[in-house]
Amino acid sequence: MGWYPLFLNLEGKRCLVVGGGKVATRKALPIVGKGGVVTVVAPRVSETLERLGKEGKITLWRRPFAWSDLEGQDIVFAATDDPALNAAIAEEARKRNILVNVSSSGNQGDFITPACLETEDLLLALSTKGKNPTQSATLKAWLWETFSGGKEGNLRGNATCFSRALQLFPGGVNSPVRSFRAVGRYPVFIRYGKGSYVVDEDGKTYLDCIMSWGALVLGHAHPRVAKALAEQVALGTSFGMNHAFEILLAEKIREHFPSIEVLRMVNSGTEAVMSALRLARAATGRKKVLKFAGCYHGHVDALLVESGSGGLTFGIPSSLGVPEEYTHHTIVVPYNDLEATRKAFESFGRELAAVIVEPVAGNMGVVLPHPEFLLLLRQYTEQYGALLIFDEVITGFRVSLSGYQGLCGIRPDLTILGKIAGGGLPFGIYGGRRELMRLVAPEGGVYQAGTLSGNPLATRAGYTTITVLEEDPAFYDALAEKTRMITQGLREIAASFCLPLYVNAATGMLTPFFTSLPVVDTRTAFAADRTLYARFFQELLSRGILVPPSPFEAWFLSGAHTSKDCERLLEAAEGAMRAMARDL
Ligand SMILES: Cc1ncc(COP(=O)(O)O)c(C=O)c1O
Repeated sequence: MGWYPLFLNLEGKRCLVVGGGKVATRKALPIVGKGGVVTVVAPRVSETLERLGKEGKITLWRRPFAWSDLEGQDIVFAATDDPALNAAIAEEARKRNILVNVSSSGNQGDFITPACLETEDLLLALSTKGKNPTQSATLKAWLWETFSGGKEGNLRGNATCFSRALQLFPGGVNSPVRSFRAVGRYPVFIRYGKGSYVVDEDGKTYLDCIMSWGALVLGHAHPRVAKALAEQVALGTSFGMNHAFEILLAEKIREHFPSIEVLRMVNSGTEAVMSALRLARAATGRKKVLKFAGCYHGHVDALLVESGSGGLTFGIPSSLGVPEEYTHHTIVVPYNDLEATRKAFESFGRELAAVIVEPVAGNMGVVLPHPEFLLLLRQYTEQYGALLIFDEVITGFRVSLSGYQGLCGIRPDLTILGKIAGGGLPFGIYGGRRELMRLVAPEGGVYQAGTLSGNPLATRAGYTTITVLEEDPAFYDALAEKTRMITQGLREIAASFCLPLYVNAATGMLTPFFTSLPVVDTRTAFAADRTLYARFFQELLSRGILVPPSPFEAWFLSGAHTSKDCERLLEAAEGAMRAMARDL
């Protein structure tokens, strides 16, 4: 069977449908209202065609077909119930260079209309040169997927999407960083992703270094994950009841994170953090929480805080709508600041319910922990009877199968996971020592619940993702090598153009800061040049590389990124920095 897509722009085209029965109606319907001039010729026509005629959407010639009807036509649908007449019309149409579709034989026509799709102002049709309607339906689905992203409606182009999105969502987005405001352009809208690449609504392909903000460690639409999800979709997407994949995933998490003896599944990192804080307060009977400036733990009220000017401050709400009372119990200390941490414990140690930390910070850009920093936190929390919470929403299953705690050997009391643990679906967990988790309802009095918690899609995607990771013992070494290659490459390129660049990296994640000083906390991170980053972003984007549209985010790599991808990224970075250096 030969087939190929045809793009039929019907604008102003004269389309003749010969026949007025069911088949002719089926042929006529997809092309009505697509800008063409549709005429139907037949002695009798269906009710639908009758109605379209009355509405002025088609012209009806209620009489038998005449050869002269072909004059001036651009497209003809031979859809009478007489195969011989259809064949004769096809032959004559060909002679006159008219595109023809023959209802009774795919072989005689130039295209088939069951596989006819609308995309923007184009109609997309198929030539199968064959007879098989099932196959044409399959091809139609494929075409739909490929050319329209499988979306309903007629929405194409980043700019068009954004102008419509602006009417619907604050800033046109469903999460602020996606607005691209920090880099001064309108955002891209992604149509689909495959492996290390995404394609936007302008049809442009990018090497993706965002990877759903780290959630996709295997790349987009990994075949195993996609298959598992397709199977689960057919079995039901949510039961609001218990099912086997919750257990299978939880057992895997426990195996890799021995500090997590018992866990609870939720639908986002934010929700997991919020619940963990509630639990920590219940377990200790204390109110205060210590966090570190630049660490993000989701949009939990109590943790949406800025640090004040000093080394150790009470949190000031960083968002409108958060009453000061809500952050009153939050203490903020600079990341990696051993002295400020010591002071905080001396002042508030016995009032602290928990210390929460990203063991490798990813939300002020990547910042690595000082070698003693996490150890100190473990030591002080034990000494003062507070809980230590590792927020491994980013680092879990990214820097190693057992997160950063597996690498640093520190056992927190509670751990938060999300992103990769849910295989790229909405997901989060909090978990830890059995006697702590016993306090959660229904065993204990800490109430927490969720309609979609532990839902079968997320748990199955997470389970499959972790299984794939387990099966490849070289996965993390390879990911680390790719990270090293890019990190080193960026440093060398920047040096060759005399651009100040400091790159922090952990396995599978990195951030280039346009500054010459080491970046160890918010103060040093925010000293980086944002304008240079915005320019770098734009230059990379124009070269087909998508990196975070903000200078203070992590770039994420995945198993799908090849060394060729890394070379491509570095080539683009070289071009970008050359252009930047020229203008400096
Ligand atoms: C370390 C960390 N914790 C928590 C969260 C919140 O997770 P979610 O966006 O799933 O609510 C994030 C989100 O990026 C994160 O990076």
